[in-house]
Formats: sequence, C-alpha cells, structure tokens
Amino acid sequence: MKLTDFIKKKTPKSDSSAKVLPYGENIITCTHLNKQFMGIKAIDDLSLQIPQAKTTGLIGPNGSGKTTLMNILTGLIKPDSGKITVRDKHRTRIKSNELRTYRIARTFQDGRVIEQLSVEDNLLLPVAKNTLWGGFTEIKTDDYQSRLEKVLDITSLKDHRHKRAEELSYGLRKLLEIGRLLMQDADIYFFDEPFTGLFPEMVEQVCDIISGLQKQGKTIVIIEHNMGLIKRLSDYIIVLDHGTLLAEGEPDAVLKNKKVREAYLGV
Ligand SMILES: Nc1ncnc2c1ncn2[C@@H]1O[C@H](COP(=O)(O)OP(=O)(O)O)[C@@H](O)[C@H]1O
Ligand SMILES: [Mg+2]
Repeated sequence: MKLTDFIKKKTPKSDSSAKVLPYGENIITCTHLNKQFMGIKAIDDLSLQIPQAKTTGLIGPNGSGKTTLMNILTGLIKPDSGKITVRDKHRTRIKSNELRTYRIARTFQDGRVIEQLSVEDNLLLPVAKNTLWGGFTEIKTDDYQSRLEKVLDITSLKDHRHKRAEELSYGLRKLLEIGRLLMQDADIYFFDEPFTGLFPEMVEQVCDIISGLQKQGKTIVIIEHNMGLIKRLSDYIIVLDHGTLLAEGEPDAVLKNKKVREAYLGV
C-alpha cells in the first residue's frame, strides 16, 4: 500500500512563528479540567502546569487519568469543561488537526503504526503534505529526506526501511513510533509508556533519544511506571490519583512525599 492512499485531505501547515517562551516558564497550563466516561470522573477538576524546556514525569496508579490527560492535551478527546493554555493561546479544547500549529507531537501507549505501510512511509506520514499544484494526491516529502535519514539512523531502522510495519518486532515498532515523533520537529513531545515491554538495550536507546531531545531544549512529558527511569529522566514530576493532582514538584521531594508513597508506591 502506498503513502498516497492514506492522504485524503490537506494537512495544516506548521506555524513556524509560534511564540516560544523563555526557559523556565510553563508551556501548558490546565485549569479546572474535567472529563467523565459514563459517570466515572477520569479527570476531576484538575489544574496543573507543564514547565517549558523540561522533562515532566506523569505518574500515578493505573486508571488515575494519565492517558486521558495526554489525550486531552493532544486533541484526541474533548474535555467536558475547563481551560487549556498552550503558550499564550487559551482554549477550551485542543483540536487534533491543530497539533502542528501548537508544535505538539506524541506517541501512543498501544503503538499506533500503520501495519501495511513501509517503515519509511510510516515515518513520512506525519509530515506529508498535499501539494495544491501537483494534483490532489501528490505528496510532497522532499523537504524531509535528510531528516528521514537521521531518524532511521537514530532509531536503528535503516536496515528495515522497506519492510512493512507488520513485519517488525515489538521493540522495533516502538522505535518506529518514536521515529514518527522525531520526524515532526515539535517543541512539546508526549510519550505514553515508551519503555513498556522493551529489552534493556532498547530502553537505553530510547533514553538516549529522549536525552537528545532534552539537549535541544524540548519540552517532554513521559508517562512511565518504572520509577528508576522516571527519576533518571525527569526534572519535574506530576502525580495523578483518581483524576486529581496528588503531588507535583522536583523528583526527590515528590517521591518522598507521604501521600505519594501510600497511594502509589504502596510503601
Ligand atoms: N474511552 C474510555 N471509555 C470509558 N472509560 C474510559 C475511557 N478512557 C479511560 N477511561 C476510564 O478513565 C479512567 C482513567 O483512565 P486512563 O486515563 O486510561 O488512566 P491511566 O492512563 O492513568 O491508567 C479509568 O477509570 C478508565 O477506565
Ligand atoms: Mg495509560
């Protein structure tokens, strides 16, 4: 199957003039967010901030609302109420087709690659644009060839570039999804459990990729259960419990917090 078959409508251009705040400020603020699923409060009057150019570990027990929060912040679901501020834009929701404008990119907990497409086309898909004059289904990806080579290199997918995604091992699929994220040149990167099920060697590879983004001053949010990895990568930690904010702050202080230890770490 060809990449062109997957592009049906014009994708919005990225807004390169998006305002970048100085280091240290908050890039995302949520105010009184709520989201219910069939009467269950997945997100319950949640207010929090995500610091710019830092790595935030988003932790909490299963079902505490971490993925729901990430889904709201990446436009996959609409909150019932509340406000989201990204840089200086105040919104009641984020729309998924505006992610490029917000310079936000994400991975999924369940790894959403397109099985029948080649590795290369899966990587090009998030950045592919239709060209108006080249015909409706002509896809322009020329600008991304050098980035594609870099990403294939970083993710060690070079030797697999022409394979279909369905032919890859679980670990390589996770790397492919991370590769899709790296193709996008965003400012804000969300990772939903990027390490789950990976062998130690690949865990190190993903850590290296994340530290590469940290060195470029990117804002990163990671959902992860392994406390060793969270401590190692995070500058800031947010702990959710039943859709509410249980604690936030620097890793040492948060992980010593009595409420956090009782509710989440079970000690
Ligand atoms: N699409 C959905 N439909 C129904 N309930 C959902 C849906 N998504 C999440 N939930 C519920 O919302 C709560 C929070 O889930 P989730 O955000 O996935 O938690 P976490 O990522 O912290 O494990 C859970 O009770 C979960 O069952
Ligand atoms: Mg989750």
